[in-house]
Amino acid sequence: MHLRYNRKPVLISGFCMSAVTELKTQIQQALVAAFGEEFAHTDPAIAPTNNPKYGDYQVNVAMSLAKKLGKAPRQIAQELMEKLELGDRFEAPEVAGAGFINLRYTLAYLAERLQFMSKSDRTNDRLGIFKVDQPQKIIVDFSSPNIAKEMHVGHLRSTIIGDCIARVLEFQGHDVLRLNHVGDWGTQFGMLITYLKEVAPEALTTANAIDLGDLVAFYKKAKARFDEDEVFQKVARDEVVKLQSGSEDTLKAWKLLCEQSRKEFQIIYDLLDIQLNERGESFYNPYLANVVTDLKKLELLVEDQGAQCVFLDGFTNREGQPLPLMVQKTDGGFNYATTDLAAIQYRVNEDKAQRVIYVTDSGQGNHFAQVFQVARKAKWIPETVEITHVPFGLVQGEDGKKLKTRSGDTVRLRDLLDESIEKFGAILDARLAEEERSESNEFKANVARIVGLSAVKYADLSQNRTSSYIFSYDKMLADKGNTAPYMLYVYARVQSISRRGGIDFSSLNTPIQLQNESEFVLAKHLLQLEDAIAAVGDELFPNRLCQYLFELSQKFNTFYDACPVLKAEDEVTKNSRLILCDLTARSVKLGLNLLGIKVLERM
Ligand code: ARG
Repeated sequence: MHLRYNRKPVLISGFCMSAVTELKTQIQQALVAAFGEEFAHTDPAIAPTNNPKYGDYQVNVAMSLAKKLGKAPRQIAQELMEKLELGDRFEAPEVAGAGFINLRYTLAYLAERLQFMSKSDRTNDRLGIFKVDQPQKIIVDFSSPNIAKEMHVGHLRSTIIGDCIARVLEFQGHDVLRLNHVGDWGTQFGMLITYLKEVAPEALTTANAIDLGDLVAFYKKAKARFDEDEVFQKVARDEVVKLQSGSEDTLKAWKLLCEQSRKEFQIIYDLLDIQLNERGESFYNPYLANVVTDLKKLELLVEDQGAQCVFLDGFTNREGQPLPLMVQKTDGGFNYATTDLAAIQYRVNEDKAQRVIYVTDSGQGNHFAQVFQVARKAKWIPETVEITHVPFGLVQGEDGKKLKTRSGDTVRLRDLLDESIEKFGAILDARLAEEERSESNEFKANVARIVGLSAVKYADLSQNRTSSYIFSYDKMLADKGNTAPYMLYVYARVQSISRRGGIDFSSLNTPIQLQNESEFVLAKHLLQLEDAIAAVGDELFPNRLCQYLFELSQKFNTFYDACPVLKAEDEVTKNSRLILCDLTARSVKLGLNLLGIKVLERM
């Protein structure tokens, strides 16, 4: 696993901000002291323990060194331990079992860390988590629907996952450019414009003459015509040429069509609170010819049946022959891959990106692998630039097949989101009736909207993104389990404690005293928030953060069942527990915000 911990340990009143990072460095230093310089970069294999009996972390490096050092793992662990200097964060380490080193936080350290988190500034609350000290310029290419086509569930996934990744990287202090690489160029416009000229010419000259639904229908018909009618094909191709060479009428028509789609996309972005900068395929049009000339100069181009291609390593067809990536078609036109090559050049040279992240479905895995390979062959990606495809699986209906409406049509995203809001509205009504609470319509509408939308986002983000998942309103709206409502209730419950007890969390200021087992478990988990966030920034799996929040909520609920808070036996215990409640709520709020989810004070 490749980890990018470029966070220098920062010492604040004697402790380091990133526990695991500092621990890793200390163990590597001990490895060097015990066994020599060549072990400076050995992965110490630190794992948080699940069983408190074994402390808080287990260091497993001794097992992996046994062969190399020709010693028993227990012996290695012993020697390593003698060189290990951990300061006062941990109790004296113990060797256990076959050669594990168990580490346990000291009570004083735990209390001090919690105190520090608790006292951190509440405006734009970071809970004491520092920004990275080497911020990078990072591009996240996500959402990226296609003009004149409906945004589909795949684009929804890209939008939700991409937004979360961008939020996490921004939180870490990176300079993030969120790019919407919309499909706004190419053959589809030739067909569409030609067809509209025939059947709805007003759409090409007047704004808002048709809506996106009609546009999509027209596009389908245009495509059908294109496939069966040779004359139409020829006219449509000429129209593309006109567009690419900047003919005024065609450009005007194209702009109107884009505008129409853009409005529809914006409705979804507004609903989901998504910020994006549109830089569609058309943006790269002036650079496409250069891509081909550059590749030619580098002698990477091969002509294949009239088309310009680059041959690839590791990609073969069914007969085992090497596969080419086409960058210029027989008719001289460019394609999706050419555009992505131009985009790489632009992002590296003009945007000065140090990391570029593409969020699309796994189906485009080959496309990106091929494009990256060609860009590397051409030496357009410097070694200091990391370029990554972040693939995700499909969204399936309850039948395990591609998500469809009951009548078998593709699901419109707005309908999908509206249904979630509506369904939660009904759940909310039932609960309020049961609790004999009466709330204003405004309150109910707001709660339903936030929970309904959050549920869809959370259900998506909480899955390992590489797998497909089944879209189920029942599951995502349930108040138990790894769901948005469960997390949101934990936050609201803590706020209700403060209302009931007349407590101002920001003024709590007693030393923290941990007594009950469930308090320890919760406290330790609270300290791991930073590592969960860093893991998402490094590995780009948002479900890591969801899992963290889910466990946090569970541990909080266990604590809350076991330990009276407002009715605690004495003032110190009460204040101490209130700090744990407050820190839990703030962690949930921060974590959910990074997932693109807003919390509710009351629900
Ligand atoms: N428009 C494409 C689609 O709908 C996604 C674009 C992804 N980004 C990129 N640079 N290729 O499939």
